[in-house]
Amino acid sequence: MIRLEGSKVAADLQAELTELTAKYREQGIVPGLAVILVGEDPASKVYVGRKEKMAEKIGIKNFAYNLPSDASQEEVLELIDQLNRNDEVDGILVQLPLPAQIDEQQVLQTIDPAKDVDSFHPENVGKLMQGLPGPKPCTPNGIMHLLKAYDIPIEGRHAVIIGRSNIVGKPMAHLLLDENATVTITHSRTKELAEITRLADILVVAIGRPNFLTGDMIKDGAVVIDVGINRLDKKLVGDVDYETVAEKSSFITPVPGGVGPMTIIMLMYNTVKACELRRIP
Ligand SMILES: NC(=O)c1ccc[n+]([C@@H]2O[C@H](COP(=O)([O-])OP(=O)(O)OC[C@H]3O[C@@H](n4cnc5c(N)ncnc54)[C@H](OP(=O)(O)O)[C@@H]3O)[C@@H](O)[C@H]2O)c1
Repeated sequence: MIRLEGSKVAADLQAELTELTAKYREQGIVPGLAVILVGEDPASKVYVGRKEKMAEKIGIKNFAYNLPSDASQEEVLELIDQLNRNDEVDGILVQLPLPAQIDEQQVLQTIDPAKDVDSFHPENVGKLMQGLPGPKPCTPNGIMHLLKAYDIPIEGRHAVIIGRSNIVGKPMAHLLLDENATVTITHSRTKELAEITRLADILVVAIGRPNFLTGDMIKDGAVVIDVGINRLDKKLVGDVDYETVAEKSSFITPVPGGVGPMTIIMLMYNTVKACELRRIP
C-alpha cells in the first residue's frame, strides 16, 4: 500500500506557482485573491486562515473581508460587485457555508466567472460538463492531480464516487469521465452500496461521516481517496476507516495530509491562472 501524500505533491506545486508569481512580479503584476468570510464559524475561520497563509507564501496578494454574521444579502452582493470591478483582484472566494439569511446561489452567481476560482458559477459548471476550458473545482481537480502525480491509470477503470454534492461528487464524476474512466455515482439513497463499492478500481469517498468506508467494502488493490474531514474526539478523521481499508488498498490518501492540501493548492493554481488569463498578454 502506498500513501498518496497530498502534502508533498502540493509542496511541489507551491514551488512552481511561487516561481511563476516571481516572474509576473518582475512585470509589475501581482495576482490577487479576495476571500470573503461572513460570520464567525470557527472551522471556516481555520480554512480561510490556511488559504490566506498559502497565498502569502506563494506571492499572491490577499484581500481579506470578514463581514459580521448578520450581514445582509445586499452587503455581500455589493462587496462582490466591487471586487468584480477591482483589477487587482483575480480570484474571489466566498467561504461556505453562509449564514441562513444569505442566498448562497445568488451570491455565487454574482461572482464574475473569470474570477470564480472555486468554479461554482453555473457558467463554469456548464463548461466543466461540456469539457470546455475554464477553472476546475479545487477538490476534485486536486484529486486528479494527485492521481496523476502517482501515475495511477484512470482510463478504462471503474471509478465509484460516494457522495453527489456540487462541490465534490458531481464535478469529480466529470473530471474522471474526461479521463475515460467508467464512473458510478452513489449517494444516501443507493441500495446495496457495498456491492457497488467492491467493484471500484478507484473509490472516492466524500460524504462527511467518520470512518464510514470499511475494509470489507473494497476489493483488493483498490485506489481509495478519502475526501472527508470530520472531527472525532478532538481528532481529524476522514470518511474512510484507515486501518481496515489501508491493508487492502493499493493507494490511499491519509487524513490529514491527503486531499486537504491539494484543495488549497488548486485554489492558488486557479488564482494564478485567472491572473494569467486576465492580465498577462
Ligand atoms: N478535503 C477537502 O479539501 C474537502 C473539500 C470539500 C469537502 N470535504 C469534506 O468532504 C465531506 C463531504 O463534503 P460535501 O461538501 O461533498 O458534503 P455534502 O454536501 O454534505 O454531501 C454529502 C454527500 O454524501 C452522501 N451521503 C451521506 N450519507 C451517505 C451514506 N450513508 N451513504 C452514501 N452516501 C451518503 C449524500 O447523499 P444525498 O445527496 O443523497 O444526501 C451527499 O450526496 C465532508 O466531510 C467535507 O468536510 C473535504
